Amino acid sequence: EIFEDSKKASKHVAKEIADLIRQRNKNDKNTVLGLATGSTPTKVYDELVRLHKEEGLSFKNVITFNLDEYYPMEPDSLQSYVRFMKEHLFDHIDIPDEQVHIPDGTVEEDKVTEYCKLYEQQIRDAGGIDIQLLGIGRTGHIGFNEPGSRPDSRTRLITLDRITRKDAASDFFGEEYVPRRAITMGVGTILDARRVIMMAWGEGKAPVIQEAIEGPIRESVPATYLQNHTDATVILDDASSAEL
Ligand code: GLP
Repeated sequence: EIFEDSKKASKHVAKEIADLIRQRNKNDKNTVLGLATGSTPTKVYDELVRLHKEEGLSFKNVITFNLDEYYPMEPDSLQSYVRFMKEHLFDHIDIPDEQVHIPDGTVEEDKVTEYCKLYEQQIRDAGGIDIQLLGIGRTGHIGFNEPGSRPDSRTRLITLDRITRKDAASDFFGEEYVPRRAITMGVGTILDARRVIMMAWGEGKAPVIQEAIEGPIRESVPATYLQNHTDATVILDDASSAEL
């Protein structure tokens, strides 16, 4: 779906999320959201905060699982996704702390595999993800599933692509300070979500969006795996859809 600009597109996405939360709240049921970081979803979060403050949308029955976190990463670091999510969403809504899950960038290295299994288990225990939000990296990554990621991959420690580290350089005040690794939900974890919404804005994303939507499904562009999902929508602005 193509929108004139990212603001209109983000409102549309936030409305779908809010509608599901309201419907579940009415029946006293949980909503499980898979959340993304980066510049792409911030307007969706702004709108959800607005709906909470102005229209009383409650997140008391919402459980969230974030896609990824740099590794290693302290939660209070400037660049941590924990901090990002607090600033953009969690500090402004009524979600209970224990219902928020973000991969832990402080887990000891020899415990990471076990930790990732636990993260998968927590998603299953919550009943699986109802709506998974995604951005897309210039490498075609979803979460931090870089080129080479298998369609059945699960939450794990991965090595970041050089292009991804370049793109993150300004956040870390230099490419050499960008962590080399990250913990990410797997492609299989993402594809298990009942609904997937991938968003992309701006002309910089146009080439990778063309590949993701029109290219053959392949390991070198992990976002192409979404073509096999039964309920996935890509939300674009004019600029990011320019090469379709
Ligand atoms: C990071 C995140 C991804 C995100 C991507 C794109 O790599 N781990 O989840 O989709 O950046 O970032 P942006 O939305 O800033 O373009």
